[in-house]
Amino acid sequence: MDKFTPFSFVFMAAIISVTMFSSFSTVNGDDRKVHIVYMGSLTEEQPEYSPTSLHLSILQEVLGDGISPANSLVRSYKRSINGFAAKLTDRERQNLALKKGVVSVFPSRILHPQTTRSWDFMGLTEKAKREPAVESDTIIGVIDTGIWPESESFTDEGFGPPPKKWKGACRGGRNFTCNNKLIGARYYLPEINSTRDIVGHGTHTASTAAGNNVNNANFYGIAQGIARGGVPSARIAAYAVCDVNGCTDVAILAAFDDAIADGVDIITVSLGSMFSVDIKEDSIAIGSFHAMERGILTINSAGNSGPYSSSVSSVAPWLLTVAANTIDRRIIDKVVLGNGKTLIGNSVNSFKSNGKKVPIVFGKSASRSCLESSAQSCDENCVDKELAKGKIVVCTESSGAKVALAAGAVGSITVTDIVSNVSFVEPFPVSAINSKGFVLLLSYLNSTKNPRAEILKSEAVNDTAAPRVAEFSSRGPNSIIPEILKPDLSAPGSTKYNILSGTSMSCPHVAGIAAYVKTFHPDWSPSAIKSAIMTTAHPMNIKDGVFASGAGHVNPLGAIHPGLVYNASKEDYIQLLCNFGYNTTTVRSISGDNSTCPKAPKKSSLKDHNYPALAARVLPSKAFKIKFNRTVTNVGRANSTYKVKVLANSKLNITVAPEVLSFKSLKEKQSFVVTVVGGKIKKDNTVLSSFLVWSDGTHRVRSPIVVHIDSGEW
Ligand SMILES: *[C@@H]1O[C@H](CO)[C@@H](O)[C@H](O)[C@H]1NC(C)=O
Ligand SMILES: *[C@@H]1O[C@H](CO)[C@@H](O)[C@H](O)[C@H]1NC(C)=O
Ligand SMILES: *[C@@H]1O[C@H](CO)[C@@H](O)[C@H](O)[C@H]1NC(C)=O
Ligand SMILES: *[C@@H]1O[C@H](CO)[C@@H](O)[C@H](O)[C@H]1NC(C)=O
Ligand SMILES: *[C@@H]1O[C@H](CO)[C@@H](O)[C@H](O)[C@H]1NC(C)=O
Ligand SMILES: *[C@@H]1O[C@H](CO)[C@@H](O)[C@H](O)[C@H]1NC(C)=O
Ligand SMILES: *[C@@H]1O[C@H](CO)[C@@H](O)[C@H](O)[C@H]1NC(C)=O
Ligand SMILES: *[C@@H]1O[C@H](CO)[C@@H](O)[C@H](O)[C@H]1NC(C)=O
Ligand SMILES: *[C@@H]1O[C@H](CO)[C@@H](O)[C@H](O)[C@H]1NC(C)=O
Ligand SMILES: *[C@@H]1O[C@H](CO)[C@@H](O)[C@H](O)[C@H]1NC(C)=O
Ligand SMILES: *[C@@H]1O[C@H](CO)[C@@H](O)[C@H](O)[C@H]1NC(C)=O
Repeated sequence: MDKFTPFSFVFMAAIISVTMFSSFSTVNGDDRKVHIVYMGSLTEEQPEYSPTSLHLSILQEVLGDGISPANSLVRSYKRSINGFAAKLTDRERQNLALKKGVVSVFPSRILHPQTTRSWDFMGLTEKAKREPAVESDTIIGVIDTGIWPESESFTDEGFGPPPKKWKGACRGGRNFTCNNKLIGARYYLPEINSTRDIVGHGTHTASTAAGNNVNNANFYGIAQGIARGGVPSARIAAYAVCDVNGCTDVAILAAFDDAIADGVDIITVSLGSMFSVDIKEDSIAIGSFHAMERGILTINSAGNSGPYSSSVSSVAPWLLTVAANTIDRRIIDKVVLGNGKTLIGNSVNSFKSNGKKVPIVFGKSASRSCLESSAQSCDENCVDKELAKGKIVVCTESSGAKVALAAGAVGSITVTDIVSNVSFVEPFPVSAINSKGFVLLLSYLNSTKNPRAEILKSEAVNDTAAPRVAEFSSRGPNSIIPEILKPDLSAPGSTKYNILSGTSMSCPHVAGIAAYVKTFHPDWSPSAIKSAIMTTAHPMNIKDGVFASGAGHVNPLGAIHPGLVYNASKEDYIQLLCNFGYNTTTVRSISGDNSTCPKAPKKSSLKDHNYPALAARVLPSKAFKIKFNRTVTNVGRANSTYKVKVLANSKLNITVAPEVLSFKSLKEKQSFVVTVVGGKIKKDNTVLSSFLVWSDGTHRVRSPIVVHIDSGEW
């Protein structure tokens, strides 16, 4: 259980201890745990073919005496994906894995949700060019904590009936109605039996991707403006897979099974785990593969486990994985000290100061009963009422604010350098300052007998350093397939509507952009849309590095005119799975066709997968020469000539052949080879990067190049 941690602080507030829901049961003394039995693609279309009876008969073959398959079966996947979830013992799991047609058997994990100047900041203003008729036929599937149907973001004024292609349903549960904006709802947790969002997370991701314009959205009077989604005319289908305890793989796969069959165009999934797992044991990777097969791109958040290396849990090449960055609107709250100095805090304080400074005391000096370390963090029962009453109490832990309040403090200052920690809203004035400010504060407290301070109400300021990748945003490299760069790109992780941040919010931003691109290019493949968004992204601060920001900061207007795309078909992804090491049997189950893998996996070909980024891993202390083969498809002007440029890196010699690509027609393809040569580098975990840019004078088609010096042992 401790493998998974909450990915959003919305959840941090809600989850103190994560409890396992009814995923265990004991039958005949054996522990049975819910597993997913993944059987690949659903290809049989004969009317007599019944996936559920097939699933029950496979189960029957492995279950111990006296256990009925119907009691073991938790759920059958049968609309878009073949497989089922069942309660199994270890032995039954092992036996099932050997059955013909079974690709993988894996335990259902608990995943977590990762938690609007933002659209203006990205350049997609209210006045941007749009295709309203097509946009209104676009459906975004939101796999999340559900949705609040009465939210202003989802009213259906001006919307006609759902698009003809819609095959879904409104099964939101008790007291839940859909409308012509929110056209579909389904839930998957028997503990709740509702699509109503009691957490708030899914409502925010849905409104970020496709919410209506809502005037005067604000948060306690700070950061006023219009809240809106990327494609306000698009329709929404909500799939509830989480409750306050988290989300299960069983539910997530079921949601993909339905969303694909329901006919959504884009799927957004702001969920994930702390660690990456093999693709055939990852419900989001499996579900999104089958979505890709049907032409649906899935957007997934990178995770909130940064800034640590390899913390990105979204690794599949057909997913568009999004990191979180800051935007130019930042919420600050100032602390003014008695000596006139001002410290900048990052929390949200909605309380107006009366202009008076009050006494301020460090937790350490406001405790008579606790050891120094507990006293300075303001642990439970440590803050002395007589010493704290009427004062601002300084605590080194954010949890101390509540303790200070209980002891009669009138404000609290906490210390954190982790930006994702600071938006907790408390019922009294709180400021979260960084460790540099803390040193200044301590020296002030030391310098005077009667220190005083005032916490000002939060204000929105212009952060000119934006966009920078957020500290909490999960980083690459990809620990499963190092040749596939992850995260793919970066988008704003915060919204002005509710000031939630986290990679959760960056994901629906990109889902909105993907839908926007699709309204201009309805026939583009998921990988072409993904390529367009990646290759047009803006460069980000070099200090962030490509393992933090991928291809860069999204550029929605640019993404509709990429010039060239790195396209990939289902067959290309199948080839990649072969090269990764899956055999013909496994690959055929997944693809549902007659694909064949070469006898031995060709790991060396993984880097040649036609990805819009070029990544390779090499060992320390070895000179290297890496060749990447790529093919671009012309989607710009029929007659065009592109010339290559490579960003210099003193540690890499990069050549491209040919250096000029001439196109005569649209959809024409041209291949080229990028050769990257470097000398011996001793230092393990060194990241060398550059950018490859194809330009015809109008379009700039930009791809990151990254070589990771990695022994795998640091
Ligand atoms: C339905 O849910 C809404 C929102 O919680 C609530 O205000 C309303 O009273 C509910 N109606 C019924 C009939 O339960
Ligand atoms: C949810 O529905 C299922 C199936 O109808 C039922 O077994 C379960 O008890 C329900 N759960 C709740 C919390 O009502
Ligand atoms: C961040 O918040 C978590 C949860 O409240 C807490 O455990 C942790 O100590 C905080 N980290 C910092 C640096 O304040
Ligand atoms: C404040 O004073 C205490 C004891 O007098 C000392 O230990 C501490 O280092 C001082 N802190 C600062 C920031 O000057
Ligand atoms: C912040 O400043 C930049 C550069 O001066 C400007 O382009 C941008 O519009 C400003 N943002 C806000 C929210 O005022
Ligand atoms: C990309 O490949 C797919 C499948 O091979 C094809 O249908 C599509 O037309 C290609 N081009 C674009 C721009 O999507
Ligand atoms: C294919 O791989 C699976 C899983 O690794 C293995 O169980 C199976 O025996 C392999 N099949 C063949 C034909 O090698
Ligand atoms: C696979 O090949 C067999 C024999 O060549 C053929 O009968 C079958 O229809 C093919 N299946 C698919 C899914 O293409
Ligand atoms: C690169 O890939 C293309 C398309 O798969 C292929 O036609 C070409 O021969 C390859 N080039 C090299 C040098 O391997
Ligand atoms: C491309 O340019 C050539 C020569 O300049 C011209 O003959 C041809 O018609 C052009 N093709 C298109 C599609 O514009
Ligand atoms: C790059 O090429 C130049 C000229 O051939 C050579 O002097 C240099 O050592 C090379 N650098 C690397 C990192 O291989």
